[in-house]
Amino acid sequence: MKEDDQSLALAPAQTYQRSDEEYATIKPKVVRKERCNKCFVYFLAFFVLLCAIVLVLALIVMHPRNPGIKLSSVTVKNLEHGNGTQPYLNVTLVAEVTIKNTNFGEFRYVDTNGSVLYGVMEIGNMKFRQGSVKARETNKFDVNMDVRSYRLQETRDLSIDINDGMVNLTSNAELEGNMYLLKYVMKKRTAKLNCGMRLNLTSQSIQDLACN
Ligand SMILES: *[C@@H]1O[C@H](CO)[C@@H](O)[C@H](O)[C@H]1NC(C)=O
Ligand SMILES: *[C@@H]1O[C@H](CO)[C@@H](O)[C@H](O)[C@H]1NC(C)=O
Ligand SMILES: *[C@@H]1O[C@H](CO)[C@@H](O)[C@H](O)[C@H]1NC(C)=O
Ligand SMILES: *[C@@H]1O[C@H](CO)[C@@H](O)[C@H](O)[C@H]1NC(C)=O
Ligand SMILES: *[C@@H]1O[C@H](CO)[C@@H](O)[C@H](O)[C@H]1NC(C)=O
Repeated sequence: MKEDDQSLALAPAQTYQRSDEEYATIKPKVVRKERCNKCFVYFLAFFVLLCAIVLVLALIVMHPRNPGIKLSSVTVKNLEHGNGTQPYLNVTLVAEVTIKNTNFGEFRYVDTNGSVLYGVMEIGNMKFRQGSVKARETNKFDVNMDVRSYRLQETRDLSIDINDGMVNLTSNAELEGNMYLLKYVMKKRTAKLNCGMRLNLTSQSIQDLACN
């Protein structure tokens, strides 16, 4: 009976001990699991952030903007004009052209003919030789605008303007080309020139040069 009592008394103690051991082995496992869940959340957040950064960079790099182009200055050369019954205007304007490429790729453009307009009529032209602007760089070069009034079919307005001593001109050109982004990726882009200016015949200079 005593032995039985002892064994009965021991039994619960043994089971208690066993369950304690079980506790001891299970508890750290739960903590580690929780820690790994947090790890996973952090990793996921980092991965999403990384994806977002890559996406934004890809959007910026792969969607280049048209290069900016403008005339930074225009000087007057060989000005000849006639007043009265036979009005005429012959002048060469030397324009300093600025092309600004803000993209992460080189812009290469083809030979382009630009025009000089008097009102809506073409009075002159200018030639752009093919060229390139490196990534995030600005190029400057000179282009001659040859203005010849014999191109006009109607010179009545010109006659009035020559008498006033002021002739309004606009210059237009669309430099078409490719933006070379990665080794094998290129995208078509166009640099659009559109400038207005006033030729003062008295001072033989350009006034109010404005590009958009
Ligand atoms: C104007 O320029 C044209 C073409 O260069 C030339 O043929 C013409 O003689 C010039 N006119 C005058 C009056 O200089
Ligand atoms: C530019 O105009 C000239 C004629 O003045 C022509 O021979 C040439 O092909 C034109 N170039 C382009 C790129 O249109
Ligand atoms: C054009 O001729 C008128 C007189 O006929 C004169 O007053 C004017 O100054 C001349 N303009 C120019 C730009 O030579
Ligand atoms: C020329 O341009 C100026 C502004 O730049 C404008 O005030 C003027 O009316 C224009 N003249 C003509 C004849 O279009
Ligand atoms: C053209 O130039 C002359 C000489 O510099 C100046 O007196 C005149 O005011 C100018 N004309 C205009 C419309 O600005």
